[in-house]
Amino acid sequence: MDVLVIEGGKPLSGSVRISGAKNAVLKLMAASLLTAEECVIRNVPRIKDVENMVNVLLGLGAQVIHDGDVISIRAGEDLSWEAPEDNAREMRASIQIMGPLLARFGRVRIAHPGGCAIGTRPVDLHVNSLRKMGADLRDEFGFITGSCTQLTGQDIYLDIPSVGATENIMMAATLAKGTTVIRNAAREPEVVEVQNFLNRMGAHVRGAGTDTIRIHGVDQLGGADHTVIPDRIEVGTYMVAAAMTRGELVLSPVIPDHLDMVMAKLRQAGVEIDVRGDHLRVRGPRVLRPLDIRTGPHPGFPTDMQPQFMAMLCLAHGTSVIVENVYSSRFQHVEELMPMGAQITVDGRLAVVRGPCRLTGTRVSATDLRAGAALVLAGLAAEGITELERVHHVDRGYEDLEIKLRGVGAAIIRKSVVSAEALV
Ligand code: UD1
Repeated sequence: MDVLVIEGGKPLSGSVRISGAKNAVLKLMAASLLTAEECVIRNVPRIKDVENMVNVLLGLGAQVIHDGDVISIRAGEDLSWEAPEDNAREMRASIQIMGPLLARFGRVRIAHPGGCAIGTRPVDLHVNSLRKMGADLRDEFGFITGSCTQLTGQDIYLDIPSVGATENIMMAATLAKGTTVIRNAAREPEVVEVQNFLNRMGAHVRGAGTDTIRIHGVDQLGGADHTVIPDRIEVGTYMVAAAMTRGELVLSPVIPDHLDMVMAKLRQAGVEIDVRGDHLRVRGPRVLRPLDIRTGPHPGFPTDMQPQFMAMLCLAHGTSVIVENVYSSRFQHVEELMPMGAQITVDGRLAVVRGPCRLTGTRVSATDLRAGAALVLAGLAAEGITELERVHHVDRGYEDLEIKLRGVGAAIIRKSVVSAEALV
């Protein structure tokens, strides 16, 4: 039950080292189940979601060695196909083990990851695509259970370019008989990362990064050694931190191509950004301009940056409009920003942010990972003290958040609070 205590109003200045991408690492860990040989993943962030995925793999019987920022995984032939229920339910990315387990062992049982704070998050595209490839899957009583003899390659059209479904199908198809084509595939950089990892394992995957991915099935895969790309959402979050505090930050390593839309929008808001190789220098302006933002699948504006931008636009001089197209209810942070002085109106998927407002510190609560990040940013820019509760949401996805922020001049500390229940 930790609380982050932030004294706002200090411009950030200095350098921040960017960690490996959460949304890539979790999928590479799942892909490691496709072989009995050792897979080594480097540049792994120390975050709760990774810990949770380690527990999922351990629960299946894999050998996992987690040493610093390196994880080695060996998923032997005696692996279980039943995922540990508690760990699986805790994290949506656990659904990614479904494709690999079916492809390699022909069986799977996993707790349904269910919905979450940002709206309904069905897995129908995952399940129906694997069914089309020959898996007999039942989705009932809170579990997805099923088996197959061998998966066969298919032409699969995704109604929505789902990141998770694209990756699950890719992984399953590597060991399927024949060729699988995924159309309307997700184009996120993390999907490309999964392709690169699978190809290092000996798979034949082409096209990731475009809307059509082709996978020729092979008989077996081997081990791989791979260093994960930098986390583009972490980069974006620190860029907004510089913008909101009128600070100046140097962020590295980054892959600037992964940040095109985020940089375009920040520049439109008046933020100065210099790109030098894998370094970004970001300087917050005196006056932020309002923006119109519509989230969408890559290369559109990332929904995972929407809450942080909303916090920033509270300070912009004028009215901003945000349309959330990816999730049905990803505006929970609005209710937390309002007591800090924000002026935001929400109507379904549309939010109107009236700025500039004077943000003032108060006690707020993280409803999900990126909402929590947005509230930390608001706290950094607010007058007075902000106390952020339910920090475990932030810990799921940001490595050393308060340590990195303190390193660039933020006044932020973590207080551990022991609940009365824990004392009983
Ligand atoms: C991934 C990211 C998450 C990011 C999201 C969109 C990970 C671990 N998480 O989540 O941070 O916000 O991409 O960029 O990589 N959908 C269905 N049926 C399905 C699957 C998805 O209707 O079977 C819908 C979802 O409810 C959502 C939309 O499709 O509205 C996009 O979801 P998806 O791209 O699958 O997100 P995730 O892979 O879960």
